[in-house]
Amino acid sequence: VSQVTAEWEMKMEYLVREDGSLRFDAPDQIAAFCRDHGLRLFGHTLVWYAQAPPAFARLAGNRPAMTERLRAYVQAVVGRYRGLACGWDVVNEAVAEDGSGWRDSLWSRELGRLEHMTLAFHAAREADPTAPLFLNDYNLESLPRKRVVFLKLAETLLRAGAPLTGLGTQTHVAADLPAGAVRDAIRDLASLGLPVHVSEMDVSLTRARGLFKDRQALLEGQKRVYGEAAEAFSGLPSDRRFAFTHWGLRDGDSWLRRENAADAPLLFDDRGRPKPAAAAWEGGLRS
Ligand code: XIL
Repeated sequence: VSQVTAEWEMKMEYLVREDGSLRFDAPDQIAAFCRDHGLRLFGHTLVWYAQAPPAFARLAGNRPAMTERLRAYVQAVVGRYRGLACGWDVVNEAVAEDGSGWRDSLWSRELGRLEHMTLAFHAAREADPTAPLFLNDYNLESLPRKRVVFLKLAETLLRAGAPLTGLGTQTHVAADLPAGAVRDAIRDLASLGLPVHVSEMDVSLTRARGLFKDRQALLEGQKRVYGEAAEAFSGLPSDRRFAFTHWGLRDGDSWLRRENAADAPLLFDDRGRPKPAAAAWEGGLRS
């Protein structure tokens, strides 16, 4: 492990108190852990349609106040970890799931569909002049139409002058993902010219449709998807490879366990022993 992303502790829902003040206790602990162990810290996430805190929702209808508060928030958070953070997910999940366009959110309604994103990118850049700044999204493997909209959004941001410097694909996928889907997504994203972050990978068994005859077959599918992702990522030119992040290490710690107690989406089992998928992933990286 060389890089760490907090699953929740650097999101607004955690950082913004009811009265609008900020708390940094848990993220500071994670940051200290990274410093002590020589790990890079990846910041996740500044603007997200989900979990918009009440302190922001209360500003609805007051655009200047909302603008100032969001800018101050992004600058405070990014500024605090400047020098340690190796990059930020500035905007997370901005594309509508059906591929029809950009997602509606408190931010888009109050500040404008494009404007809230450019505001966040500029504020992050002001607070940290060098950190890579990402647009991050999910289901870019299983929904090629969504991927097209995602790439167009990235181009629109660049044309608007936003300091976007990387693309993140969460890669929360399922074990029945068709062969080639992860590879195609990674290559497509890299074609824009920016570094790619496989930012939150897990391969769900229980989200797979019932095409598999048993759990063993699901685990085989999982292994294949991990191997393919690692191979596709390591096949990119070095200037297009930002990082490869798993959304947890042990199955028992995965967020997907809360959705389905039978899921086992990660590379290590509940006791921390490597699964066959771990060897396949490692093998893919070396290929
Ligand atoms: C999840 C975390 O894993 C959970 O701990 C949290 O409660 C909810 O969010 N896409 C994202 C991540 O960008 O932030 C989400 O993480 C998973 C989906």
